[in-house]
Amino acid sequence: KCLLGYTKPFVKCGKKGYVMPGAFRNHAEAIYNLKVRPDDIWVITFPRSGTTWTQEMVWLIENDLDFETAKEKPLYERFPMLELTAQIPELAFQLIKNNFMNLKNFQGLNQATKVSSWKTIEDAPSPRLIKTHLPLSMLPPNLLSTAKVIYVARDPRDVAVSYYYLHKMVGNSFVRTTFQNFWEAFRRDLLPWTPIIEHTNEAWKQRHNENLHFIFYEEMIKDLPKIIHDVSKFLNRDLAEKEVNILADHLSFDNLRKNKTVNNSTSDNGEVQFIRKGEAGGWRTHFDAKMEMEAEEFITSRLRGLDIKYPSIS
Ligand code: A3P
Repeated sequence: KCLLGYTKPFVKCGKKGYVMPGAFRNHAEAIYNLKVRPDDIWVITFPRSGTTWTQEMVWLIENDLDFETAKEKPLYERFPMLELTAQIPELAFQLIKNNFMNLKNFQGLNQATKVSSWKTIEDAPSPRLIKTHLPLSMLPPNLLSTAKVIYVARDPRDVAVSYYYLHKMVGNSFVRTTFQNFWEAFRRDLLPWTPIIEHTNEAWKQRHNENLHFIFYEEMIKDLPKIIHDVSKFLNRDLAEKEVNILADHLSFDNLRKNKTVNNSTSDNGEVQFIRKGEAGGWRTHFDAKMEMEAEEFITSRLRGLDIKYPSIS
């Protein structure tokens, strides 16, 4: 259920009040009732948590390290995003109408408006690979008992910084705002897909479910080969050590940044790219002392009563 009249053009959806683009309310029910298939693999994240990185990893593991196709076909076609396919053309139209997005800068969406529709995912041949930023509570209730899910979480402070640059990149109304203002909106749960810690907690609570594999972005930064090994095992596609290393090299920050089928969006002036810095802890250079205290208070209060153990938060 989505409530209208929130911060235009957004609505608040579900029991936890997740912020969604307004057009989402037309599709929330269809998504909730989507037929999940046993061989589906879903990558679920809050935006800017390492989704793209994980998608490329999962696609290659599932496709026997077919680097040729991966270099030819854009990731957004190989691994579609549920919300975009569900909301096109409405979402795209709404975003342009509200001057929220400069489509030119967001090739994924630009392309998707031409080629996909909601049917893309409903009718896609098996096995389907599906990306979504929706929290578990807004997805089909039988998802975890039916398909495999990989959830990636990241330190909310780094997410906030990365999310700020994404908004700058796509050229929406936040483009001229300062990071301070953006952070204010982030911590007040005014931005799409917030609240972030609730989002992560839903998956964290399921981390022992055999169909859910929970990863932290910071762990990927620390030891990518280990994560590749664990994910390939989770997908029942154990890779040999040599293959793990080849894949880790393909997925390195420098290589992925150069990779045009994966890193395919930039800001108008080319300064901000979708794959931007790739650091854990980079938030420190964006938060002044006041914001740092606010962040601490945000994290402490939102984690109260929860047992999520972020590797970067003690
Ligand atoms: P930064 O903006 O902090 O650099 P998503 O795909 O969920 O939108 O996440 C994007 C974030 O993941 C960006 O963070 C991006 O740089 C980072 N990222 C993508 N590929 C990466 C890689 N190979 N190594 C490290 N970080 C990566």
